[in-house]
Amino acid sequence: MRSLINILDLTTAEIDKMLDTADDIIANPKKYSEVCHGKKLATLFFEPSTRTRLSFEAAMYELGGNVLGFSEAQSSSAAKGESVADTTRTVCCYADIIAMRHPKEGAPLVASMNSTVPIINAGDGGHNHPTQTLTDLLTIRRKKGKLSDFTIGFCGDLKFGRTVHSLIQALSRYENIKIILISPNELKVPSYIKHDVLRKNGIEYKQTTDLESVLPELDVLYMTRVQRERFLSEEEYIRLRDSYILTREKLKIAKESLTILHPLPRVNEISVDVDDDPRACYFEQALCGKFVRMALIMELLGIHLD
Ligand code: CP
Repeated sequence: MRSLINILDLTTAEIDKMLDTADDIIANPKKYSEVCHGKKLATLFFEPSTRTRLSFEAAMYELGGNVLGFSEAQSSSAAKGESVADTTRTVCCYADIIAMRHPKEGAPLVASMNSTVPIINAGDGGHNHPTQTLTDLLTIRRKKGKLSDFTIGFCGDLKFGRTVHSLIQALSRYENIKIILISPNELKVPSYIKHDVLRKNGIEYKQTTDLESVLPELDVLYMTRVQRERFLSEEEYIRLRDSYILTREKLKIAKESLTILHPLPRVNEISVDVDDDPRACYFEQALCGKFVRMALIMELLGIHLD
């Protein structure tokens, strides 16, 4: 029985195979429409979500399975003080696989240690978001045709942005990836990402506070929201929230082949006038999330068609 807590739980070969399955699901959806018949996915979301929870639920329905769960801690017995371990041991009685989002870093890991069914980390605090990474990798591969030989800029809240941490970890295992970290000084990536991931793996990277100075170099631009819910001070959030606002005007200096990604939700960091630009891929990215989660559910349930 396998869980997905950190993107590094999967080898690159396993990730590539999962992306192949996602591509095949996109091309041949009918082939997969009953493969999870009789199976149940529980979505235990202790934090708000639109894309992750609903794409997991859509994924399970499109595989022919069923879904149960809750979308806020207050509607579960966590509100009465139940532990993550006890909640997990209980939900194992009702579901074949569990996707969990939790504000506490490490909560899905605790769940996996108390589970008899696979646990999927659907985002834990400011730590990791491995299924967003699978989504991002599928989108990049469909746009660029490969997961090597490109320069990617991460822009915004790189301190609390869990999608950034997981994607950097994943990309550090592919060939010739150059990374540019664009953030205010207060929101730089955590030091473990710099030391244990980038430096340890010999990844070429640089840090800057100035998006426009590096925009012409980028093949992929990964914008992120400043994560209000992780700030201790509302004043500090307000001071930093509009550090970067990507506009159609600013994009004049970017490559024609640029791929603009954002895990969403967006607040103010990408102007809506960018949405019609052919380089804007963030809604397509949200769609990719459903297909790659279908592939992941199949993999963790041990369902293989070939
Ligand atoms: N990208 C992402 O995790 O979005 P949600 O918070 O809406 O799930």
